[in-house]
Order: sequence, then C-alpha cells, then structure tokens
Amino acid sequence: MTPRTPVWRSTVVLKVVMALSGLVMVGFLVAHMYGNLKVFSGQEAFDDYSHHLRELGEPLLPYGGALWIIRIALLAAVGAHIFAAVTLWRRARAATGGKGSLRYVSSRSRRGSQRGYASFTMRWGGLTIALFVIYHLMHFTWNTISPGGASDSPYERLVNGFEIWWVVLTYTIALLAVGFHLWHGTWAALASLGANTSQRRRRHLNVLATIVALVITVGFLIPPYAVLFGLVG
Ligand code: HEM
Repeated sequence: MTPRTPVWRSTVVLKVVMALSGLVMVGFLVAHMYGNLKVFSGQEAFDDYSHHLRELGEPLLPYGGALWIIRIALLAAVGAHIFAAVTLWRRARAATGGKGSLRYVSSRSRRGSQRGYASFTMRWGGLTIALFVIYHLMHFTWNTISPGGASDSPYERLVNGFEIWWVVLTYTIALLAVGFHLWHGTWAALASLGANTSQRRRRHLNVLATIVALVITVGFLIPPYAVLFGLVG
C-alpha cells in the first residue's frame, strides 16, 4: 500500500492551485502593462500614477498599505505557483522514470509529439521570468542598478534605461519568455479548470490564450521601443 497523499497535495488540487495563482498573475500583468502605457501621457502623469499607487486606500490604510496588500497577494501567488510546479514536475518525473516527454508521443502530429513549443519552454521560461523579475526589481523598485542614470522619478528611470539598446534587448528576451509562458499557461490553466470539454471549446481556448499572450507581450514592449526610437522622452 502506498501512503495516502493529503487532499491539498493531490495532483488535481495542485493543478487548480497552479491555474488560479497563474490567473492572479495574469491580472497583475494586465494592470501593470496598462499602467506602463501612461508613459505616453508624459512625466507628470506617469510619476503621479506611481505616487497614487502608494496613496490608494488612504486614510483607511496607511501610505503604501494597499500596495503592500497587492505585493503580499502577488508573493503568495508566486510561491504557490512555484511550489505546485516543482511538486508536479517531480511527480511526473517519478511516474515516467525521467522520460516525461514520452507521455506525449503521438502519430497525429508532424513533430511526433503532442506538445507544442510553448509547453516545452514552460520550465526554462519560468526560470527566465524569475531571473528577470529580480533584475527588474533591482532596476525600478529597489534602485540598485540604474542603466542610463539614477533618478527619483520612475519616468526618468524608464526613459534613461530604455534609451540603451541592450536594456531594451534584455526586456525583449524576458518578454518573449513571458509571452510563450502565458500562451501555454493560459491554455493549461483554463483547461485545468475544466474549460476544454469539446473540440470547439479547445479551439476557442487556443484563440483566447493567443490573444492574452499577444496583448500582454506587445503592450509591455510598446514603451521600451517608443523610448528607443525617440517617440517618448
Ligand atoms: C517593458 C516592460 C516593463 C516596464 C517598463 C515595467 C516598469 C515598471 C516600473 C516603472 C515599476 C516601478 C513602479 C513603481 O514603483 O511605481 C515596476 C515594478 C514592478 N514590475 Fe514592472 N515593468 C515591465 C515589465 C514587467 C514584467 C513583465 C513583470 C513580471 C513578470 C513586472 C513585474 C513588476 C513587479 C513585481 C514590480 C514591483 C511592484 C512593487 O511591488 O512595487 N514588470 N515595473
């Protein structure tokens, strides 16, 4: 007899945890991407927006209180997502003797495998995104690195950084990883939540996942390229 797995660590529950925590992060990304587009409204509007994020909920909450609630929710989502991903990955490896991808062998696909490029890149993509977030926080939130010059103004930090081609390149690489991760991840999350019950719904899921990934990736990439090509700043 194998020992019982507690319900909260069952594969189904972990898949749902991955899906819900992923969708929380998608919500954050949409809001963040939309907020970044304020850069087109000029320095005052962008810096005011950053300042107002900290005043949210005042006087009920202290200065920065709402932002900290968002940060804690986001950290919990990231933690749950990584924990579920690692546990599911180790479980799949153990179940297939380390030959995970052979589970998906299929003669119906030209590649001989049911998995697409995005799903192959989930693990490496996830790691790339984690490294990018640390670099990004050092750049914009902690101010420990300041490519192009330090400033107290978030607008100036953004413009100073994205005037440099290699900074734009690092963001482009990271955002491509985000895009592929979101493309497969959105599909997988909604499938885990039971949305892929027919061929027709699977087709719709595919379209939706492509739109989510494209809108977020392109939306994030617009400000850096606008700065690089001198349209902003
Ligand atoms: C070109 C793309 C991006 C730009 C221009 C950008 C810009 C910024 C800026 C200016 C801030 C500081 C906001 C402030 O303190 O007022 C920030 C914070 C942050 N960004 Fe981004 N961001 C980009 C992409 C991303 C991506 C793809 C992610 C996640 C995968 C991300 C995650 C975060 C996080 C977690 C914070 C910290 C929020 C906080 O706790 O204060 N960003 N970003």
